[in-house]
Amino acid sequence: MTDSQVLGGVRIWTLLPTVLSLCLAFTLPTGNCRPQRMRSNAEIAQEVAGYTDVAKRIIELAVYGKAQNRSYDKLAAFTDTVGSRVSGSDSLERAIKYMYDALRRDGLDNVHLEPVKVPHWVRGEESAVMLPRNHTLPILGLGSSVGTPEGGIEAEVLVVASFEELQKRAAEAKGKMVLYNEPYVSYGDTVQYRAFGATEAAKLGALASLVRSVTPFSISSPHTGWQDYQDGVPRIPSACVTIEDAEMMARMSHLGHKIVVRLSMAAKTLPDADSFNTVAEIRGSEHPEQVVLISGHLDSWDVGQGAMDDGGGAVISWEALSLLRDLGLRPRRTVRAVLWTAEEQGGVGAAQYYQLHKVNISNFDLVMESDLGTFRPLGIQFTGSQKARAIMREVMKLLEPINATVLEEHGEGTDINQWMEAGVPGASLHTVDSKYFWFHHSNGDTMTVQDPMEMNLCSAVWATVAYVIADLEEMLPR
Ligand SMILES: *[C@@H]1O[C@H](CO)[C@@H](O)[C@H](O)[C@H]1NC(C)=O
Ligand SMILES: *[C@@H]1O[C@H](CO)[C@@H](O)[C@H](O)[C@H]1NC(C)=O
Ligand SMILES: *[C@@H]1O[C@H](CO)[C@@H](O)[C@H](O)[C@H]1NC(C)=O
Ligand SMILES: *[C@@H]1O[C@H](CO)[C@@H](O)[C@H](O)[C@H]1NC(C)=O
Ligand SMILES: [Zn+2]
Repeated sequence: MTDSQVLGGVRIWTLLPTVLSLCLAFTLPTGNCRPQRMRSNAEIAQEVAGYTDVAKRIIELAVYGKAQNRSYDKLAAFTDTVGSRVSGSDSLERAIKYMYDALRRDGLDNVHLEPVKVPHWVRGEESAVMLPRNHTLPILGLGSSVGTPEGGIEAEVLVVASFEELQKRAAEAKGKMVLYNEPYVSYGDTVQYRAFGATEAAKLGALASLVRSVTPFSISSPHTGWQDYQDGVPRIPSACVTIEDAEMMARMSHLGHKIVVRLSMAAKTLPDADSFNTVAEIRGSEHPEQVVLISGHLDSWDVGQGAMDDGGGAVISWEALSLLRDLGLRPRRTVRAVLWTAEEQGGVGAAQYYQLHKVNISNFDLVMESDLGTFRPLGIQFTGSQKARAIMREVMKLLEPINATVLEEHGEGTDINQWMEAGVPGASLHTVDSKYFWFHHSNGDTMTVQDPMEMNLCSAVWATVAYVIADLEEMLPR
C-alpha cells in the first residue's frame, strides 16, 4: 500500500503556515478567522499539546491507579469462563451475551447488538497416524475443510516444499496426500499454503492435503486457521501438522522412505448461524453522530482460549471506554467500541457492519483495531493522508510517559480494511509482537501469554488516542 496523496499533500502543506499567519495577524482580534481545514502544523501541535494533562491522567489511572491490571482481569474472567469461541458455536453466543451484560453493567452508553449471519463449521473428531511406525500426528483440521469418508483416508504422502515443487511433481500427486513443508517466511507470505494448499493439491488429483503449521516456532503444536476452496475444484480434506512432523516426513521422504498416513476427520459445515457484533459507546458531547471506532474481534478459533487472538483487542477496546467513563471524559465526538463477530472466517461481522454503516462514512473520523496481540505497546500503525499523519504524530507525543510514541506506516486489521480502502484514516495497535505467531490459532493461545502490566499500557494507548482524536476541534483530514 502506498500513500498516493503524499506529493499533493506536501505541496499544499508547505504553503499553509504563510496563509495562516497572515490570517492570524490581520483578523484574529475580531474572532472571524476561525480556521477550518487550513491550519498550520504549529497550530495543530499546540492544540494537541493541550491534551498533555489529560493523557497523563489516563495513563495514571490505567497504569498506576485503581484501574491497574483491570483489562487483564477482565480478559481472564472472560476467557477462563467462556473459553474458545469459534463462529457458529454456542460458546461464541455465550461470549456475546457475557460481553453485552458486562458492558451494560459497566454503565456505558448505547450498548447493543447488531445481528450478523456467520459461517458454522464444526471440527468433529479427527486424528492422523503415520503408518510406518504408528506415529500419532497432532493435527488440527483447517476451518471450512470437509471431513474424510467414514473410516478415513489412507494414502501415500507426497512431500513438497512449495507450490513450484508441487507443479514440477504434478504427475506424482494423483491419489496421494500432499504434505506442504513450506518454510516460514512471514505470516503474510506463508499463509497461502494454509489458504490454498488443498485446492492446489486437488487440482492434481490428490485425496487430501496436510500443511505445515504457519508459525516460526513450535513445541509440537498444530496451528489451525481458515482455508478456501475454489469453485469447480474437488473439495478435499485439509489439516495442519506440526513443524516437527512436517520436517520429519520431509527427511524420510528425501531418504526414499514410503510414508503412508491415515487421516480421519469428521469436520462439516452446517447452515449459517445467528450472531452479533457487540457495540458500546461514550457518546460525544457536541457531535455524537461523528465516530472514532475502536475494536477487536470477540470470536476466536476453537482451540486455546482466544486470549491473545483476539480477546485482548476486544477487552482493551472495552477498557478504553471504562477509563474515559471513570475520568468523566466525554469527548466532542462519540468513541464507539465494536467487538466483531466471525473475523476468523474472513471478517464476516465487519463486512456486514461496513455495508450497513457506510451510508454515514463521512462521519467516521478514525477506525482502530487491535488484532496483533496486546503485548508491550510501541505506538500505533497508521494509514491516512499526510495531513492526518502530521496530526497523529503530535498525538503520539502524548504517550511519551509510557514510551509508546512510535507512528508506523500501514494501519492493519481485517475488520477495518474496508473503511481504510474507502479513505477513512485507520490505526492499529503496534506492539512487541515477535511472539504473536508462536501461539496464534493454537492451544497455546491462553491467558498465560498475556501480561497485566503490558495490557495496562495497551489500554492507556487505546484510550488516549481515541479520546484525543474524538475531542479535537476538527475531524482528521482525509
Ligand atoms: C498487577 O500485576 C502486576 C504483575 O503481575 C503485579 O505486580 C501488581 O501487584 C498487580 N497490581 C494489582 C493492583 O493487582
Ligand atoms: C500398528 O498398529 C496396527 C493396528 O493397531 C498393528 O496391527 C501394527 O502391528 C502396528 N504396527 C507397528 C509397527 O507398531
Ligand atoms: C447514520 O447517521 C444518522 C444521523 O446521525 C443516524 O440517524 C442513522 O441511524 C445512521 N445510520 C446508520 C445505519 O448508522
Ligand atoms: C520509559 O522509558 C524510560 C527510559 O528508558 C524508563 O525509565 C521508563 O521506565 C519507561 N516507562 C515505561 C512505562 O515503560
Ligand atoms: Zn485475530
